[in-house]
Amino acid sequence: MTGKANILLGITGGIAAYKTPELVRRLKDRGAEVQVVMTRGAGQFVTATTLQAVSGNPVRSDLWDAEAEAAMGHIELARWADKVVIAPATAEFLSRLAAGSAHDLLTTLCLATEAPVLAAPAMNHVMWANAAVKANRDTVVSRGVVLLGPAEGDQACGETGPGRMVEPAEIVAAVLGAPTPKRRPLKGTTVVVTAGPTREAIDPVRFISNRSSGKMGYAMAQAARDAGARVILLSGPVNLPAPDRVQRIMVESAEELFAATHAHIDAADIFIATAAVADYRPARASASKIKKSTAELSIDMVRSPDVLSSVAKLKDGPFTVGFAAETERVREHALAKLKGKGLDMIIANKVGEGRAFDQDDNAVMVFWHGGERVFGLARKTELAKALVELIAERYALESRARIATDLPTAAARD
Ligand code: CTP
Repeated sequence: MTGKANILLGITGGIAAYKTPELVRRLKDRGAEVQVVMTRGAGQFVTATTLQAVSGNPVRSDLWDAEAEAAMGHIELARWADKVVIAPATAEFLSRLAAGSAHDLLTTLCLATEAPVLAAPAMNHVMWANAAVKANRDTVVSRGVVLLGPAEGDQACGETGPGRMVEPAEIVAAVLGAPTPKRRPLKGTTVVVTAGPTREAIDPVRFISNRSSGKMGYAMAQAARDAGARVILLSGPVNLPAPDRVQRIMVESAEELFAATHAHIDAADIFIATAAVADYRPARASASKIKKSTAELSIDMVRSPDVLSSVAKLKDGPFTVGFAAETERVREHALAKLKGKGLDMIIANKVGEGRAFDQDDNAVMVFWHGGERVFGLARKTELAKALVELIAERYALESRARIATDLPTAAARD
């Protein structure tokens, strides 16, 4: 089970109840919503205040609490639960469960719920082996209750044997399933990302730049890092903090970005060009501040180096991904750039009318040789994750294809 599972945690009066705040915390860490119900005995070992603090919900213990019933009646609570977990479950509680008692709130909930009930027994090992307890546990198991443990080992009473409550991590795994291991499809790769605008100096105080905020590039860098890559982020001037565990190098102009890129590109397996590089720069930056002496002023502009094309042209260069910001005919322009610049992939978005620049949302079309995919409007961080997944997929296929075409050559050399 993933996402927002509703877990009703019943705590009964055993010493292992002291481990339940950790159990609640771990359930919450996995995204579960937790409501705690304590028996009277449980309050001898752990406080409702602690459980309320960790669960973020009021703790219930009394079937006759009018105020709590008004907020969420016990039948409603029983229906709310996706799973009911009793931890620890004492011998006394198992006997009440086996008897079908509705004497207190927790037993009543167990009768009123249609959700699966899991119980983690905890008691002295002689009690666990007692024939009456054995009969009770057989009864509850025959009615579908899942028993977790108990574990064997040292007991609070100083004796050793089966009767310890299984550890919170084990209970969480049984309730929510094993955690899905993080997908790290870029593990072992180095990714170089360019981001943000460039500034092209006119004089010591003025420059030509653009509206790029760097958000998309930074999101791509973070997503590549989370996918397991070592990330080098070459950033123009932006108002964003350096992401954790990413090597960030700040640059200003297109020429500086070009130099920084080529200083690091040999290490790159994948190059993602998100930067909005100024295509033109003043032919000469004035050494001193230009004074307003004339009615008109012309500035001669020359082309900036195209960082992306220069990387795409490299022999044995990285898998190269470009971005295209277009105001019209997005598909046509993007495909022309894919071919014209010799890229492996291009991510195109429509800009203007408040779209893309300095926004938290973005929607894009992705093209590669022989395929395309549309990504609907999403937060840039979410979009970046999906784009990095696709880049990793295409990169893996391309590098496999490269190895396959290299193989006969290598064999011929032997
Ligand atoms: N790019 C680059 N260096 C440049 C200009 C662009 O690395 N001097 C990269 C951008 O980072 C982006 C891609 O090229 O990944 C596309 O940039 P864009 O400005 O949309 O396209 P251009 O090729 O510059 O074409 P045009 O301005 O005519 O649309």
